[in-house]
Amino acid sequence: MEGKPKSDDLMVFVKKFADLNALTVEEDLGHGYVRLRVTEAERRQALQDIRNVEDVVKELVRNARDAGATHIYVAFQKEKGRWRNVSVLDDGQGIPAELHRRIFEARVTSKVRDLVEDHLGIHGRGMALYSIKQVVEQVRLVNSEVGKGTVIQARIDTHRLPEKKDQSTFPRVERGEEGTLVISGGPRNVPRILTEFVLNSGKTEIFFGSNAEILSTLYHHSSDMRKSWASGRQKDRHPLWFELGGIREGRALQQFSVEKLGLAVSERNAFRVLEYEIPPLISINELLSRFENEPSAKRADLHRSPKMNWGDQLARRISPQDLKLLGRRLSEVFQDIGNRYWLAAESPVIKRRKDRLIISMRLHEKEDD
Ligand SMILES: Nc1ncnc2c1ncn2[C@@H]1O[C@H](COP(=O)(O)OP(=O)(O)OP(=O)(O)O)[C@@H](O)[C@H]1O
Ligand SMILES: [Mg+2]
Repeated sequence: MEGKPKSDDLMVFVKKFADLNALTVEEDLGHGYVRLRVTEAERRQALQDIRNVEDVVKELVRNARDAGATHIYVAFQKEKGRWRNVSVLDDGQGIPAELHRRIFEARVTSKVRDLVEDHLGIHGRGMALYSIKQVVEQVRLVNSEVGKGTVIQARIDTHRLPEKKDQSTFPRVERGEEGTLVISGGPRNVPRILTEFVLNSGKTEIFFGSNAEILSTLYHHSSDMRKSWASGRQKDRHPLWFELGGIREGRALQQFSVEKLGLAVSERNAFRVLEYEIPPLISINELLSRFENEPSAKRADLHRSPKMNWGDQLARRISPQDLKLLGRRLSEVFQDIGNRYWLAAESPVIKRRKDRLIISMRLHEKEDD
């Protein structure tokens, strides 16, 4: 038994060494991008890696996550029972204009210095987009700007590249031994791929829906962002959909959606977004926190009101983020009031109970400062 770890170590060493050789740079493309030199065997291996629609989504979302996105929106829509349209939108670091075409070429990557390791393994060979391009009907960069994010769209013929039949059921999740959520079953479909990302890259919020649902979600996120921007509270960078919330007219919304965001929607649906008839989605992150230890969630559970199925659990509609916001505002408001009575309050504790919010604020004598 003593000798075994040593030979394993050696294998690890040899593998690393082999990888390093395979990954030598062939051409420097500027902006931190390179074209790698790679053996034919590895090229073929990578081509085999995209076997189904789930793999396409996995690689597109992985790229968005690697680009440091905090929000990823996956529009997933079937056409005539055969064509699967996928658009992945992110607010990550974006791609310099000179490289917009090149990213679909083999071995072009910006990840040469730091190969990335995630729950799916090591990657960064510059092969995923190239491989996707070989097996789908069309894949294109719809829009990308440095510092604002990226939109990539793929159109897949499911007769060539299959997908799981059930794309509606989310996997079952439960608390693992260390208190973290783990998947305990369910089909290996796109909802599961996305759930795995949520569970493994906690900071990123992932949204999943039809083109119109994603448009509505982006529209409302943009409106919120513009409000905080106008009040000077938020000075973050603008994502590609920052302009969206300022649009008041159906046709203009439809045009922006198709041209800038790669989301084909009818003018009617664009209008319904403006009228709040198509409400924004909740993120998969939020869905998971609601469905722990319950039977699997369905895609429809991502809908915010009016399709609420919690009966009188009105308070549960309010997201944890909004509860935090409420708490912060209460603390702010109380400061002045407390001063008048020589009182200070701890951060409010807000609980959701059926049709009410229960708020408690512990008070103290204000100390001299
Ligand atoms: N959403 C995105 N945001 C920013 N850059 C991106 C995005 N998608 C792709 N890129 C850029 O395109 C390059 C090529 O992507 P591709 O997925 O083909 O290869 P990779 O991610 O480098 O390696 P792998 O083949 O292991 O996925 C990436 O290295 C990255 O620089
Ligand atoms: Mg990639």
